Amino acid sequence: MHTIVSKQCLSPNVTRLDVQAPRIAQIRQPGQFVIVHHSEGAERIPLTIADADPAAGTIALVIQSVGKSTRDLVALEPGQAIADIVGPLGHPTEMIESGRALCIGGGVGTAVVHPIAQGLHKRGVKVTSIIGGRSKEWVIFEAELRRLGEVIVCTDDGSYGRKGFVTDAAKDVLAGGGIGIVYAVGPVPMMRAVVNLTKPLGVRTIVSLNPVMIDGTGMCGGCRVSVGGETRFACVDGPEFDGHGVNFDELMDRLSAYREYEQKSLACAEENCRLKQTLPS
Ligand code: NAD
Ligand code: FES
Repeated sequence: MHTIVSKQCLSPNVTRLDVQAPRIAQIRQPGQFVIVHHSEGAERIPLTIADADPAAGTIALVIQSVGKSTRDLVALEPGQAIADIVGPLGHPTEMIESGRALCIGGGVGTAVVHPIAQGLHKRGVKVTSIIGGRSKEWVIFEAELRRLGEVIVCTDDGSYGRKGFVTDAAKDVLAGGGIGIVYAVGPVPMMRAVVNLTKPLGVRTIVSLNPVMIDGTGMCGGCRVSVGGETRFACVDGPEFDGHGVNFDELMDRLSAYREYEQKSLACAEENCRLKQTLPS
């Protein structure tokens, strides 16, 4: 069992849970993730390790509450526990050892960019982060990233920082030159837009992909993606890949294929909850 030691609401539907997982906290590396299993019968959810405190034996999980399973997870309170956490899984992030890197985080993807920026900063790489949200209340991990380098905040509605998408700011930073590598994590259209900017410039771009995962061990094929014309499994070959080779159309199709089931599962959970409330105690 993994006890929750703290819980923080980061934005209207994003929650941070710091959870006891001492072994994972000791050995995790940037880019790696865990598979979380709330309790018996629950779905398994892949979550990037957004931060870790080896001394306290905790890892930080950042959860966007979008379906039944993620809602169940964020309903947990400090002192309660998650049944199983498996990891660290996946390949650590490909890092440069010097020069300047651009880290781009869209919405909840900013939490995934954070450990990458940490790893780069540790190596002495100059980090510029561009982070974006729909409006001010959706911007996350700003303070944490400011400790690691320059941060440019963007909001779609201009309520905080620069008005516009993260890609608008990225265009300007890239035009200034000197960027050795770009890391982009967020919604698929955002990662595709970043790749469309960097490909003509020949700037290596790493994206983190989040297809549906089931076993997390390369056995089920649920997380398959196409990169450079080859089938790869995000759980064991990724989750980070060379963005210039990713087939984003296929990724979008595969992500939308499960939407109907996710909505049904959520509706069913809400109906069960309503029935429980109306039953005489
Ligand atoms: P969102 O839709 O609120 O977008 C966040 C920011 O991304 C925007 O403010 C904007 O700056 C940028 N953006 C969005 N669409 C863009 C476009 N077409 N072009 C350029 N920039 C764009 O994001 P959210 O609701 O926090 O994120 C949800 C999505 O992120 C989900 O689809 C989720 O699956 C995905 N996600 C991906 C990862 C990953 O590892 N790749 C991790 C977590 C979540
Ligand atoms: Fe099953 Fe990756 S989650 S192969």
